Amino acid sequence: MSGWLEIKKSVLERIKPSRAEEITLNEVGEQVSEKINSILKMEGIKGVAEIHGSVPHGTWIRGQMDIDVFIVLDTYQEREQLAEALNAIRKHTDWEFTEAWAEHPYLQTEIEGYYLDIVPCFRARNEERIKSSTDRTPLHTKWLKKRLVRRGDEVRLLKQFLKVVGIYGAEIKVGGFSGYLCELLIIKYRSFKGLIEAASGWGDKVVIRFNDETREFDDPLVVYDPVDSSRNVASALREESYNLFISAVKAFRDNPSERFFTFDETPVDVDELMETIGERSLVFIVIEESKAEVPDTLWGQLRRSTGAIEKQLEMQGFDVIKSTVWSNEKTRHILAYMLVSAHRTQMIKHYGPPARLEKNVETFLEIYTDNPSVVSGPDIEDNRWFVVLFREHTRVKDTIDTLLEDGGLSSGVSRRIAVRILQHHRVLLGKAIGPYLIEGFERHLAKFIRGRPFWVE
Ligand code: CTP
Ligand code: MG
Repeated sequence: MSGWLEIKKSVLERIKPSRAEEITLNEVGEQVSEKINSILKMEGIKGVAEIHGSVPHGTWIRGQMDIDVFIVLDTYQEREQLAEALNAIRKHTDWEFTEAWAEHPYLQTEIEGYYLDIVPCFRARNEERIKSSTDRTPLHTKWLKKRLVRRGDEVRLLKQFLKVVGIYGAEIKVGGFSGYLCELLIIKYRSFKGLIEAASGWGDKVVIRFNDETREFDDPLVVYDPVDSSRNVASALREESYNLFISAVKAFRDNPSERFFTFDETPVDVDELMETIGERSLVFIVIEESKAEVPDTLWGQLRRSTGAIEKQLEMQGFDVIKSTVWSNEKTRHILAYMLVSAHRTQMIKHYGPPARLEKNVETFLEIYTDNPSVVSGPDIEDNRWFVVLFREHTRVKDTIDTLLEDGGLSSGVSRRIAVRILQHHRVLLGKAIGPYLIEGFERHLAKFIRGRPFWVE
């Protein structure tokens, strides 16, 4: 990797937080902790506020305004204590909260421009004592403490690399690498360069252990959580992200450049994009949202719904090349499909049962004799019955309109998304999407159409 040291220096100049930034982050963290601690005391709740995550680990990237505040409760009696701790905070502050309960209760608030996640958990001395999913976090900080010394910048390089490649974050939207996973990988391979060299050789499956864990996982990358042998820290990493990572790693190894650490911020040329859209067969479902779910829940529903409709389109005679979903997470979701053609054939050859399966043939003939959609048959070809059917409509828009008559529910669209679809949606073909090429959807769509990672040249 020639020139790596220069690249590294230059990238760190951009992404390493300044001393002043560090001081302010810590100050805000302390203020908030003090406030929470006094509330806990007032309410007689035994526990303490602690800052965890990338700030105390020394692995956050410059300009990040997130602070992870944990309320660590002394002793577990019942799960309800988690919500009670949050209620106490709500009662005694004028902070404006967003409740963000995916599977675990927590609150989000903004204070002096900083975004705080306030997460309650129970104190766990070791893995047997883990009562809720976030109990591991204080153990993580403790485990990392000595091991991450002087390696923070290496983690930062890795995070920036993954962000630019588009696979940083364990949330469902991304399906990539969590911050903690980055930290563990750097500890394992000692540096960003060390990881690049190792990962260039990664195959179908990689297993990384810090102890002698044995539990098997089905994921391509398995990194046992050193504080909990039953957990794979890389479980959220989708196969696609894993493969993208290895591809990017190899490209970087062969041709290191700062491009891998630099976001492409050139604005999308919308006129050019419109022209490309006109030359493809694209169909969109625009859904207006009124009150979106917590992002992880929402993205789960959106991904499932997009896939369900794709499957239906395939079953109904459309050749779907690929699909994607975009959302601003508040007011609008857009499902997009790239098709071989926006029309399906007018005729379809539909095969029935083998000629000697008497019972089935009887049913087949019952259905298709005197059936107005049949233009030819029922007839026998080799050993099978078949008919040629005539399709009422051939345009994808009509098919989607039919599929969405019940919001898509019977096609497998998530119930909540189906309700939104019933209330307000539009099916748009090709260039009709024009007015929606805003808010970042234009970039998402341009990338989807181009379909080529920046390092593949
Ligand atoms: N955590 C985890 N698994 C996740 C998400 C979070 O174990 N999928 C825990 C980790 O202990 C982590 C802490 O929650 O240290 C904070 O998570 P988060 O803010 O998502 O990540 P950071 O490590 O703080 O990284 P970033 O710089 O992106 O905030
Ligand atoms: Mg964080």
